[in-house]
Amino acid sequence: MDNNIVWHCATVTRERREKLNQHKSVVLWFTGLSGSGKSTLAHALEEQLHQRGGRTYVFDGDNVRHGLCGDLGFSAEDRKENIRRIGEMAKLFVEAGVIALTAFISPFTDDRKNVRKLFADDDFIEVYCHCSIEECERRDVKGLYKRARAGEISDFTGISSPYEVPENPEISIDTENSTLEVCVEQLLEILVERGILLQLTRKSEESLSVAH
Ligand code: ADX
Repeated sequence: MDNNIVWHCATVTRERREKLNQHKSVVLWFTGLSGSGKSTLAHALEEQLHQRGGRTYVFDGDNVRHGLCGDLGFSAEDRKENIRRIGEMAKLFVEAGVIALTAFISPFTDDRKNVRKLFADDDFIEVYCHCSIEECERRDVKGLYKRARAGEISDFTGISSPYEVPENPEISIDTENSTLEVCVEQLLEILVERGILLQLTRKSEESLSVAH
């Protein structure tokens, strides 16, 4: 680390941003197989939070890999770097007062543990999207499982690369058998329980009128 780089302290602090936003910031770290519903669930939850006036942002594996992580592939080393970058980025968003939702397979326990270490305990909610490989493969929304089985994609999670199931996630969601609404409700509940939403528990009329 370069000793000539000095950390600059802002007068607009996280606490002040949270007060302005009327909710706390946090990261919801979605992990699970490709096709397990991470992005769908993260976006559906974001919609609900937005309608309540929350400041939110979803980081999505497929999108981030076009830009910030466009130089990375799917080797264990590249995935580690992918998750490290997203972790650091999410940390900045939490400082910025945002409810950050990240949707990455993040298959390796060590990588997820390293991300967790970046955050205070209350700031990190690991959300395990539990869906069997059989169901993910049956859905095969992007046709990637079929290609992986045909040997056209190497290091494919669940087929030729491991997925290490989280041992102690803050919440485990059954995205195989539950409806999207039920899954979103479970996540809203945990946010309420943890006091994240503060004054955001009811939908504001104004924000509802601009919702599509
Ligand atoms: S992670 O393992 O580094 O967390 P990430 O979530 O960013 O992965 O990207 C996963 C997405 O990339 C999948 O949803 C899928 O669309 C696509 N993908 C392409 N190749 C692979 C692969 N070998 N393994 C898993 N996903 C892949």
